[in-house]
Amino acid sequence: MIKVSIIGQGYVGFPLAIHAAIAGNTVVGYDNDKSKISDISQGKYPISGLDNSSISLLIDSKMYVPTYDPTLISESDIIVLAVPTPLDNNGNPDTGLLEDAARIVSKNCKSTALIINESTSYPGTLRNLVEPIFKSKLGHKLLFASAPERIDPGNINWNLENTPRVVAGITNEATVKAVDFYQTFCKVIHKASSPEIAEASKLFENTFRMVNIALANEFAIISKNLGFSAYEALTAASTKPFGFMPFYPSIGVGGHCIPIDPKYLSYSAKLAGAMPKLIDLAHDINISMPQSVALRIKTELSNDLLNKKIQVAGVAYKPNIPDLRESPALELIKELRKMGSIVTWHDPVVGKFDNENSSELDLNVDLGLIVTPHEQIDFSLWKNSSVRVLDLSANSKDYGWPKFF
Ligand SMILES: NC(=O)c1ccc[n+]([C@@H]2O[C@H](COP(=O)([O-])OP(=O)(O)OC[C@H]3O[C@@H](n4cnc5c(N)ncnc54)[C@H](O)[C@@H]3O)[C@@H](O)[C@H]2O)c1
Repeated sequence: MIKVSIIGQGYVGFPLAIHAAIAGNTVVGYDNDKSKISDISQGKYPISGLDNSSISLLIDSKMYVPTYDPTLISESDIIVLAVPTPLDNNGNPDTGLLEDAARIVSKNCKSTALIINESTSYPGTLRNLVEPIFKSKLGHKLLFASAPERIDPGNINWNLENTPRVVAGITNEATVKAVDFYQTFCKVIHKASSPEIAEASKLFENTFRMVNIALANEFAIISKNLGFSAYEALTAASTKPFGFMPFYPSIGVGGHCIPIDPKYLSYSAKLAGAMPKLIDLAHDINISMPQSVALRIKTELSNDLLNKKIQVAGVAYKPNIPDLRESPALELIKELRKMGSIVTWHDPVVGKFDNENSSELDLNVDLGLIVTPHEQIDFSLWKNSSVRVLDLSANSKDYGWPKFF
């Protein structure tokens, strides 16, 4: 049994805390957002897909202690950083929250703890940004490791236990201790030779995805001009059993990873004198999608969106989770409204955002758009009606309407 503290109880830190506690470790889940901690204490958990009754048992037995008191981390042998690493207003990495979290840990941790960073960041973050914050810690015998998180919230097949974990310490002792910890709940550990390799591997994974999505989106634009269905061509291409992985077009990318992590890679590359081209170009293609899709929708409605009633089904950035961060659905709604249409949205998973509430699925619309098809959305109302519906979703499920792309 290891005493662990997880800093940040969001999409990454909360499930990590629960998996670590289920494995028999005693876990302090610290977050500086009081409302989040009070929600968790009252049984309102930040992410679904976990067994709620087991979570409340872990809380009752104090195997998992959610708190906003940072002094509770002082007993922990391992402290994991799982805080946001967003972009600043110029589109560059903003590591401010990670640095704040490291400072809080430095003030409150024991001097022999292992500090692990799971937050996504550029190569060199652990060694050059995180570790120096602890330099002045009294009696410093701390260890440092990187173990980038790969969780895919809402994915029912791949979770913290069966998704291999890349781990690397600054020293061998740090690697060994970090591996011992992850082995308590994760089946496959890949030891990398340095934290920089671990950090870079995470950025490459998400950049790979982002670039391939951009390629699928560009293919959708080409297919429109050439007059064929990109979806059908991609489905045909995906029958190739080797050397191919299917990605489908969509209205763009969202979430805290795909639109952001590649920017960390291109930013650090530029600082080091490399001039990456593909990454920034792919990003631009993806963020232009909501606008280009809105224009295509306009042509579908006789080139006139003024006062046209449109309903968007699903506004989260992906199905079955309430996460709206960077969601391209919000951009699409903005674009359609700018062009004069009256847009409502139906999303029972999100419920509410920006003082707007999810409306019931509506029959009285000129157009229904399937954007983020949560399992919870029942499309039978639209199916059993003459409502015109366009399926803009990126997954390959057939909702009964032809794919838009
Ligand atoms: N969400 C994902 O799917 C995902 C997947 C893999 C990796 N990541 C990476 O994991 C990291 C965390 O992302 P997330 O999605 O969990 O973010 P999140 O916003 O869901 O959760 C982060 C939590 O950290 C808290 N926090 C911020 N600063 C803090 C501080 N100084 N002290 C204590 N708590 C603090 C916030 O209140 C929040 O509850 C990011 O680097 C992200 O890129 C995210």
